[in-house]
Amino acid sequence: MGGAGKVFQWHWATARPMSIAHDRTAWIKGADDLCHTPAAKPARPYRLVLLGAPGVGKGTQAELLSECLGACPLSTGDIFRAAKSADDCGTSDAMRTALDAMRRGELVSDETVLALVVERARCLRCGGGFLLDGFPRTLAQARALLVLLATNNVALDAVVSYELPIDQIVARLAGRRTCGKCKAVFHVTSRPPRAEGVCDHCGGALIQREDDRPESIRVRMAAYEENTRPLAEFFRAKGLLLTIPAAGSAEDVHMRTTSALRARG
Ligand code: AP5
Repeated sequence: MGGAGKVFQWHWATARPMSIAHDRTAWIKGADDLCHTPAAKPARPYRLVLLGAPGVGKGTQAELLSECLGACPLSTGDIFRAAKSADDCGTSDAMRTALDAMRRGELVSDETVLALVVERARCLRCGGGFLLDGFPRTLAQARALLVLLATNNVALDAVVSYELPIDQIVARLAGRRTCGKCKAVFHVTSRPPRAEGVCDHCGGALIQREDDRPESIRVRMAAYEENTRPLAEFFRAKGLLLTIPAAGSAEDVHMRTTSALRARG
């Protein structure tokens, strides 16, 4: 999640901050759209998948990792939320069905998700690297991703799997507030905005996501257990899995992630 704003990249190797902007027009709009401000290319492009239950903090970590690795955060959930706020006339039947599923907390069909990602394969080839957040979510999606990457001559560096007890996950979801304008993510207690209800970055109004209602959260957790949890074993068998405890502050989790990536080389 997060907006298209400017952030500072701090590369481990050089320990030097560098201004970088992620536009993400190509990811959010797909088809023939191009990013208006292509990101500066980092010395080493990282290509990572972020795995974990809804609300574990993948989007938050994607933003922090993006700042230090320079890779672009790519969330499939963001594509659906952008379509939801688009003009109804521009929304296809497949997208309307997808948005209904999302509202209920169910997974969108593999067919729809894969069509959207294939349409955006350019983002996977981007020289800046990528941080896939919320994709893949089923074994079929995971297998299709590996084929798509191979077809585009790129490979994953690692799959980072965040683990947290369910009660802490529910507390994170219940307190989440998202900027309606730039999509930056806050939490009422752990990452509060400077002014209540107002985005620190763009001044937009902070809202609660529709699928953060208790009934949708239950459905999302069940979908995660059934469809997404098995992906950890799938990627472990391929030697790609890094399991990271997600307890503690976002900065603590970020430090654990970067240490594990550094140790991996
Ligand atoms: P998506 O947008 O991907 O949502 P999700 O996976 O449910 O994950 P969330 O965005 O809810 O949580 P997160 O892990 O990013 O946590 P965050 O950083 O915000 O998907 C939404 C829906 O779209 C799905 O349900 C499905 O319908 C559909 N969909 C999307 N992709 C799909 C796919 N591939 N296949 C099928 N369907 C798909 O953090 C949560 C809160 O905690 C925030 O308030 C944050 O500030 C706070 N927080 C974060 N880290 C910490 C910390 N360390 N300590 C304290 N608070 C923290």
